[in-house]
Amino acid sequence: MKVLITGKGGQLAWELTQNLPSGFECVSLNSQDLDITNQELVSNVLAQHKPNIVINAAAYTAVDKAETDQDKAYSVNHDGVRFLALACKQNNIRLLHVSTDFVFDGNKTTPYQVCDKTNPINVYGASKLAGDIAIMNSLPHALIVRTAWVYSAHGNNFVKTMLRLMAEKPSLGIVYDQVGTPTWAAGLAKWLWEVVQKPHVSGLFHWTDAGVASWYDFAVAIQELAIEKGMLETAIPISAIPASQYPTPAKRPNFSVIDKQSAESVSGLQTVHWREQLSSMLDNLKDQH
Ligand SMILES: NC(=O)c1ccc[n+]([C@@H]2O[C@H](COP(=O)([O-])OP(=O)(O)OC[C@H]3O[C@@H](n4cnc5c(N)ncnc54)[C@H](OP(=O)(O)O)[C@@H]3O)[C@@H](O)[C@H]2O)c1
Repeated sequence: MKVLITGKGGQLAWELTQNLPSGFECVSLNSQDLDITNQELVSNVLAQHKPNIVINAAAYTAVDKAETDQDKAYSVNHDGVRFLALACKQNNIRLLHVSTDFVFDGNKTTPYQVCDKTNPINVYGASKLAGDIAIMNSLPHALIVRTAWVYSAHGNNFVKTMLRLMAEKPSLGIVYDQVGTPTWAAGLAKWLWEVVQKPHVSGLFHWTDAGVASWYDFAVAIQELAIEKGMLETAIPISAIPASQYPTPAKRPNFSVIDKQSAESVSGLQTVHWREQLSSMLDNLKDQH
């Protein structure tokens, strides 16, 4: 089995290569080797490598920048994904693609089901949804997994930003009225490898870690665990602030919890609580230094 992974420089692609199961040959390509917005290149690279499976971990993920960089966001998240889907169809390749909780508006108060109505409230979410629809239209047997609040020891994310700010600042104010589930990219990578090994699995799934948190809860846990592990020296005061006091160019859903049951049952894997996953990621980060 040969698997080609796009978006090599990113968090998820890195975790996928770290967690590669035995018996797989894996080619991971960065945006220089495989710019998914270049249709001819996509077609040539897939024809050259002849993978059985493509995992698309490439995306335009700059949520705030996307508001003023709409063309680029759509070019990667819609056109690039459409080009991948078409090339996979032409070469009979199975496609696994990663999408986002930001396809929802966050107005629900119970976990979003895979069949719930989408209604993105920012450009990033709308561009990702356009990519998902392009796949569903051209490659109905593809697999699309929506995830949320992703972090890893590799790359830039909320956990690493918090660790830096907690070492630099005397205090922090963190948003308490947006809730979701932090997701260690390694857990998502394990789920993806599990379903790679189940060729009959296709369609739309949701995967995050287990539990619910606000950004404030997440920040408090990061500080507590980092102090416990000797990664921060002292605790700084963290206050809970409303999102209205932290304006950002892109609107974000207030409620981003997604239901993972179908992803758990097809894979046989259980989601792990986000705090336990955070602890593992911090261990991983500590090992790297
Ligand atoms: N991060 C989150 O919180 C989050 C939440 C929900 C869903 N997701 C989804 O999860 C997936 C993985 O996210 P991530 O956090 O691993 O993202 P990431 O760390 O931002 O990595 C994205 C990768 O995509 C690459 N890329 C961008 N444009 C490209 C292009 N035209 N051709 C090829 N590669 C390109 C980037 O390469 P360059 O750096 O070279 O541009 C980068 O390496 C994405 O589909 C994302 O939408 C992420």
